[in-house]
Amino acid sequence: MKICCIGAGYVGGPTMAMIAQKCPDIEVAVVDLNEARIAAWNSDALPVYEPGLQELVEQRRDKNLFFSTEVKKHIKAADVIFISVGTPTKSYGIGAGQAAELGYVEGCARMIAEVCEGPKIVIEKSTVPVRTAELIKSVFEGYEKGHLFEILSNPEFLAEGTAVSDLENPDRVLIGGDSTETGQKAVQTVVDIYNRWVPRENIITTNVWSSELSKLVANAFLAQRVSSINAISAVCEASGADVDEVANAIGKDSRIGPKFLKSSVGFGGSCFQKDILNLVYLCEHFGLRDVAEYWRQVIKINDYQRKRFTQKVIHSLYNTLQGKRVAVLGFAFKKDTNDTRESAAIYICRDLLEEGADIVVYDPQVPAEEIKALTSDKVQIASSAEEACDGAHAALVLTEWDAFKELDYSAIYQSMVKPAHIFDGRNILDLDALETIGFKAYGIGKA
Ligand code: NAD
Ligand code: UDX
Repeated sequence: MKICCIGAGYVGGPTMAMIAQKCPDIEVAVVDLNEARIAAWNSDALPVYEPGLQELVEQRRDKNLFFSTEVKKHIKAADVIFISVGTPTKSYGIGAGQAAELGYVEGCARMIAEVCEGPKIVIEKSTVPVRTAELIKSVFEGYEKGHLFEILSNPEFLAEGTAVSDLENPDRVLIGGDSTETGQKAVQTVVDIYNRWVPRENIITTNVWSSELSKLVANAFLAQRVSSINAISAVCEASGADVDEVANAIGKDSRIGPKFLKSSVGFGGSCFQKDILNLVYLCEHFGLRDVAEYWRQVIKINDYQRKRFTQKVIHSLYNTLQGKRVAVLGFAFKKDTNDTRESAAIYICRDLLEEGADIVVYDPQVPAEEIKALTSDKVQIASSAEEACDGAHAALVLTEWDAFKELDYSAIYQSMVKPAHIFDGRNILDLDALETIGFKAYGIGKA
């Protein structure tokens, strides 16, 4: 069997590397139009930083895992084609700011229809609005090749930073297909691929629309938990409760559960906001305004949380940041990734720049030029947390990198302007210990 995955991004690369690892007899080609990205996948400096990914790729690359820009050639040769291209929020025209841009998916469908002559299974791996399979089908029919293709939905649930372990031990794999005989046969083919390493009971099969919708709903529920605990963090700050204690107390209830209750500067990443907006757009499309409004609140609270954090920094620094050095520790949207898409740090830095702050950023994985491109050329980049904090009035922890827990905060305190302020936007530091050193220390949801 031959698999081709269109899109060598955060999902396509790691997902296909895992399939290649678990199915050495299957030839897996990951293709992309972006030459630099493919060159990076074929080098020692992969375009995606994920713990364990470099080793995984090196084990299978050029054996049964190939990264190539020869998109059409590999599409033509494959039995199973995954579409794993971006589906960002549309920035123009109807649905701008909410609907998913499906241009890349349509482009893939057209390319597949143009080059394929024999039967194929085409799989939506990208996160798409409900009924996107219909769009793909109608493109195939436009080329009078509808009969050649079976379209399935197989959304990806990996989280960045833990992609390799999520792929190795997924909570579940979801495969949606038609109830027709050929549809079910195609579903079985994909079940058999995952079943090489995922127990059958963890592979769920549904109809295509349930599968497409479940992906949006999963992300909406996860983001809603973060917004819920972040909303409560404001109540904690006002009332003297501690948000970590509240999260622990409610998380012990097995109906609530302990995960995804970490209060923060707000969720980021390429998925949560985009997928909720997509859900909101769908609800409005179906005339379900109250439902749309309900989910929109999840994003509103996220915006509120970022603003609240910035305001606290400004207020604590005597309402002026003009000419004050502010150290930003962490720029990625979460630890163990180099991804900055929708990172809270982008918005917080932009707001602090507006206030006249001199910002110095340190992140262990994000390239300097990317930080500058997302903020301003005026932003300085440090090569260590200590360097960033040297001479600063305030330090802001915006990503929960483990290394930030182990810093020598006494030495950092000595190097800062007094009074030295530290704002822990991830609640990873011991505020009492920092206060003992001499810092004015602030967390999220802590009075
Ligand atoms: P990405 O932007 O990192 O990668 C997409 C790649 O597709 C790009 O390299 C682009 O050059 C390529 N591409 C676009 N059109 C193409 C075409 N016609 N032919 C060949 N290549 C083409 O995106 P990503 O983060 O990997 O996300 C892909 C999809 O998976 C999105 O729908 C996203 O919502 C979903 N998803 C992402 C995550 C995540 O953690 N990033 C998790 C689950 C699902
Ligand atoms: C998410 C989903 O978890 C994953 O299943 C889906 O496939 C893609 O979208 P990802 O965005 O990579 O994954 O990371 P995730 O761990 O979900 O974190 C998203 C954001 O929420 C990050 O900014 C993170 O810092 C924040 N977060 C998460 C919190 O602030 N508190 C939490 O308790 C959990």
